[in-house]
Parts: sequence; structure tokens; C-alpha cells
Amino acid sequence: MRTVFWEDNHLKMIDQRILPARFEIVSFRDHKSVAEGIKNMTVRGAPAIGAAAAFGLALAGYESASSSTDNLLADLQTAAAVLKSARPTAVNLAWAVDRVMRAACSVQGSADDLREAVLSEARRIADEDVEINKRMAEHGAALIDDGDTVIHHCNTGALATVDWGTALGVIRTAHEQGKRVHVLVDETRPRLQGARLTAWELEQYGIPYEIISDNMSGYFLKAGKAQKVFFGADRVAANGDVANKIGTYMLALAAHDNGVPAYSVVPTSTIDLSLAHGGLIPIEERNPNEVLDIQFQGERVAPVEAQARNPAFDVTPNRLITGIVTENGVVYPPFDVNLKKHCV
Ligand code: MRU
Repeated sequence: MRTVFWEDNHLKMIDQRILPARFEIVSFRDHKSVAEGIKNMTVRGAPAIGAAAAFGLALAGYESASSSTDNLLADLQTAAAVLKSARPTAVNLAWAVDRVMRAACSVQGSADDLREAVLSEARRIADEDVEINKRMAEHGAALIDDGDTVIHHCNTGALATVDWGTALGVIRTAHEQGKRVHVLVDETRPRLQGARLTAWELEQYGIPYEIISDNMSGYFLKAGKAQKVFFGADRVAANGDVANKIGTYMLALAAHDNGVPAYSVVPTSTIDLSLAHGGLIPIEERNPNEVLDIQFQGERVAPVEAQARNPAFDVTPNRLITGIVTENGVVYPPFDVNLKKHCV
């Protein structure tokens, strides 16, 4: 089943806030609730929010009562701005919205033709995502050896995409090829995408895993208990700096210090060649309550008056990245030269 799909003229998505306790599909009827669903992380993961926003534009088309194409385009532009502003870091969001708007602007026909063109482009983005993930997974699986233990950060599986996944898709393909892979799953504080979502996915696929708290990865890397590190990305700058879920930088540092290869797995739609380096990538700062509301033995951990910070992503400098796996192959340094060649 897909994480994001169109059914009965509505956008439907797996509610990722309540997994693994409950599996529920939520239905979206208007673009503003899609933007809200992206913000509150009903849907999350760079490619998944891109596809959700693309379908959000399709909903905006049906919400608009305009019978003139010019007025409908204006309504779509307004909706596009609302959807793009939902989360700042993952470039796939703006990429998907811009792609659908380009398709909309090229329509020569009635307002209904335009509505259909928007929905068709959203469907294409979703279908392509699955196909691209499977291609990336084949390239990435070649990097995994039989018997490897892999440290994985955040959730980069089917839930973070339309289906299959990026870094977790690589692990899934290696497993399907018959390689024995063991996964050390970073729990990924504060939203626990690893402990909740990656662990849930690995259960479905029958891939052996153990959850570790984020501060344990250095221990396992230094002890020689992990042979590879895999994660995704929300945006990769032209020089190969990788913005990904908070904690990726510390994990990549520990991997580098111990000579363990660290790979980022990304569709080319996550590569932003317009930004020269990772310092230019906007980093989302989320509500501090995501940090403060964490409980221990049924009680809130922090004192009631405590303040917190909550940057949702960090930037890993390119020198710590061994390779970037894309649907067109594995890119190695110098990234500023080689990334361009892969983004055709
Ligand atoms: O805040 P999230 O859960 O949307 O962050 C997701 C990640 O950081 C993933 O690693 C990233 O989107 C790439 S996985 C497809």
C-alpha cells in the first residue's frame, strides 16, 4: 500500500503520528488541510510531502469554482504558496509544487482540462517516486555486503516516500536479494521516527533490527559493530553538504572518525544545485514541546518551567559523506563536480 494516494477524488494518507500504536488512513478534501497535515507531520519524509503537496494542488483545483483558466491558475498559485510554506527544509516540497504548476501553466484548454492536468501530474510524481526509489535501492544495495550491520537514522522507508523508501529501501532491496543485513535503528529524538516508524516497517519486512538511542551509535561504530551507515536527506547542496534529520551530523562524524562509510540516499529531486553549500539550506525549528513533552516511566521528563530548542534538521559537511546514492548511480567526491553530472 502507498503512503500517499488518490482515491474517490480525495487525497488519502497513512497517519504517521499514531503509528505503530494504530494504523489509520486519513482523508483530505482541501489543500489547506493538506498543508496542515504536512506541518503536523501526519505525512513526513521529503518525497512523501512532495507528493502530498502535488495532490494538495489537485484538491485546490477542484475547490476553486472558477470556470476561466486564468482565475483557476490564480487560485492554484495561491494554494501553491500555502503548500510550499508548510515546511522549509525538504526541497522536494517546492520541487513538486513547482513541477505541477509548470504543467498547469502549459495547458491549452478549458478550466476542467487544467484540473485534470494538475491531477495527472500529481499522479505522475507519485508513480515516478516509487520507480525512482527502486532504482536507487538497486544501486545502493550493491554497497551492502552479506552479514553487514547498518546504522540507520530517522525513517526513510515506504512511509517517508510514496512507497519503498530511500535509505531503508536500499536495506530492503539488499534483504530481498538474500543478503543478511542487521539494522541498528537510531530512535531519532525527539519525534522518534526511528523507534516508531522504521522499527514498524522492519517488522513488516522481516528484517532483523535493534533500536538504539541516538547517543549509542558512537559506541557501536568504535567497537567495530557496524560496517555501514545509511540515511536519507531533505536537501543536498551543490557541494554535497547534506541536510537531514537532526542527529545525522553527529552520526556521520562518529562514522568518519572510525573509518565506517556513511551514505546518503536521495532522489535527484532532493538535490538543490541552486545552493552552493549547506549553510544556505533553511533549517526548520519546530515547537519546543516536541522535546519537552517526552515522558519517562509515565511522567514528563523536564521541569514544568523548562525551555527547549528544537531544530529539526542539521547539515552534514560533504567531507563526512562517503557517497550519495541517486536513481542514476552512486556519486562520489568531488561532489561539486560529480553531482551536476548525475542531475540530468
Ligand atoms: O521531519 P521528517 O520526519 O519529515 O524528516 C525526515 C527525514 O529527515 C528523512 O531522513 C528525509 O526526509 C529523507 S527520507 C526519504
